[in-house]
Amino acid sequence: MTRLQDRVAVVTGGAGGIGRALVEAFLAEGATVVLVDQAIEQGERVAAELGDNAAFVGGDVGDRAVAEKAIGVAAEKFGPVSVLVTCAQGSVQKPFLEQSLEDLEVSMRSGLQQTWNFLQVAHPHLQQTRGSVITFASGAGLDGMPTQASYAAAKEAIRGLSRTVASEWARDGIRVNTICPVAATEGVQAWAEAFPDAYAKTVAKNPMGRWGDPREDIAPIAVFLASDDSRYMTGQTLMADGGTQKLR
Ligand SMILES: NC(=O)c1ccc[n+]([C@@H]2O[C@H](COP(=O)([O-])OP(=O)(O)OC[C@H]3O[C@@H](n4cnc5c(N)ncnc54)[C@H](O)[C@@H]3O)[C@@H](O)[C@H]2O)c1
Repeated sequence: MTRLQDRVAVVTGGAGGIGRALVEAFLAEGATVVLVDQAIEQGERVAAELGDNAAFVGGDVGDRAVAEKAIGVAAEKFGPVSVLVTCAQGSVQKPFLEQSLEDLEVSMRSGLQQTWNFLQVAHPHLQQTRGSVITFASGAGLDGMPTQASYAAAKEAIRGLSRTVASEWARDGIRVNTICPVAATEGVQAWAEAFPDAYAKTVAKNPMGRWGDPREDIAPIAVFLASDDSRYMTGQTLMADGGTQKLR
């Protein structure tokens, strides 16, 4: 299938976890992809493995210059950007009273500020291509999960930003939707080792009783949102979490 034939995608956090799974799925659907990540060696290795239709831009996605570089490289190498995915996120987990403003800054810069910058920088391209944006939030924000104060704050802010931009840009044919995933990635593995009780509880309350798989369970939803198959959807949050939370 080539549902993203000739689309140019930019995927942040594309060197690992869900981001990498999305990059591979987009390539398989005929897109060209620029992956952006602060894990420089890993990103370069992944891009080299993926071949000529992938390129890598290294840097901290909270930095506006990195957004400008990524969108610029995509345009120069492949053409105007029509799919933007803001998947990267950093965070610190501690009880709220132990979290500092620096901890808040980690989540806000890598999450909210990233999404803000990439949306603004990519806008001329998205307007030209009638593009699709996929942002990433979390059940931890919707649920108010303990130890996740700064992360939850950033993720719910991303949902609010995504909905507003979806409303403002809908008449230009630009769509903005949000995925809240549950998937076994390197980031989750580190969290599970640090917080085994929270990990066990997350599995216990999942109706499907398992963590999702980035490739099999999350990437197909991103392909759907990136493609014309979802052309009448914008401003939505899609829970890709085995039914753990049911938005009403
Ligand atoms: N995996 C899950 O179960 C889960 C649950 C809820 C939400 N999410 C969200 O889904 C997205 C992907 O999650 P994941 O588990 O694949 O994450 P991950 O931690 O496995 O991978 C994130 C990637 O982003 C990169 N990154 C982090 N901060 C960055 C920064 N400041 N600049 C550039 N790159 C940076 C990392 O190097 C890494 O490659 C994130 O937004 C995450 O918050 C994931």
